[in-house]
Amino acid sequence: MRRILIAILLPFSLASFLAGAQDGGKASPWKPLLPEDAYTELTARSIKLIEETSKSTDKSAADRIEVEAAILTAYSLSSKDAQGKSASLLRGAARKAAEAARKGKFKDLAEFGKSIPASAEVKEVKDFKPYLSATEPMMKMFLSKAKGGEGIHPDLHYQVKLKNLNGIEALLSSLASKKLNDENLAKVSKELPLLGYRIAAVGAITHELAPAKDADKWRAYSITMRDESIRLAESAATKNADGILKAATALENSCIECHSVFKNR
Ligand code: HEC
Repeated sequence: MRRILIAILLPFSLASFLAGAQDGGKASPWKPLLPEDAYTELTARSIKLIEETSKSTDKSAADRIEVEAAILTAYSLSSKDAQGKSASLLRGAARKAAEAARKGKFKDLAEFGKSIPASAEVKEVKDFKPYLSATEPMMKMFLSKAKGGEGIHPDLHYQVKLKNLNGIEALLSSLASKKLNDENLAKVSKELPLLGYRIAAVGAITHELAPAKDADKWRAYSITMRDESIRLAESAATKNADGILKAATALENSCIECHSVFKNR
């Protein structure tokens, strides 16, 4: 009897083992994490940023557009209607923007927003590399503005120190070190959720850029980064100071842990 069972079950378990091994145990990082209003606001800001950056003469402009196009793609994959037409168009437009930026064709992007409806639809993204080839240009966004980071919204300068540093990494470190008081909690309650969702999208992208060595470890840190960012966003939206403190601490740990294994390697 046992022998018969093994004979029946073995081919099945072998097949599922092989299927698992083939994709390296890699599950998709995409899920409908963005509330409707956050999705609308974040995509609008992203489109504007691509248009503005295309007019700049900064030497990092191409990198910035490529990164922003990747983030726009991540938003579209994280929306409630990720398979719908408008999200698919957005992905097609973002792909074209990344290619144009790499070729230095910035003029094509001055009216990027208007070009979206005429783009080719992209239903699925199996490989994220055509959108973004490396992690490093994206990670730069977290630095202080003076060091080439993207800076933070003035509403998030709840300490003088943060106004001076003006960076996401510095903000996360402040949020993780001390619970917000009621006044500051109110001050950040509109912008912190948006920033949390933005970092969640970056976490999901990071997941897709795992190096060959220790890929599973990398992906696990990225998923923690994504999920704690969502928790940060939701805590901020509901003005939950304890939740913000906890999520910011766990989020910062995911950054530090991944860096300790993978940075400068
Ligand atoms: C899954 C791994 C991973 C996670 C999670 C991660 N990072 Fe990174 N980060 C890296 C790697 C790898 C580099 C180095 C890139 C390189 O130099 O090639 C890096 C570089 C950086 C840099 C330096 C960029 C530069 O060019 O000077 C900053 C700043 C940074 N990360 C901030 C963060 C913050 C903040 C978080 C969390 C919110 C975070 N990272 C989460 C992997 C990760």
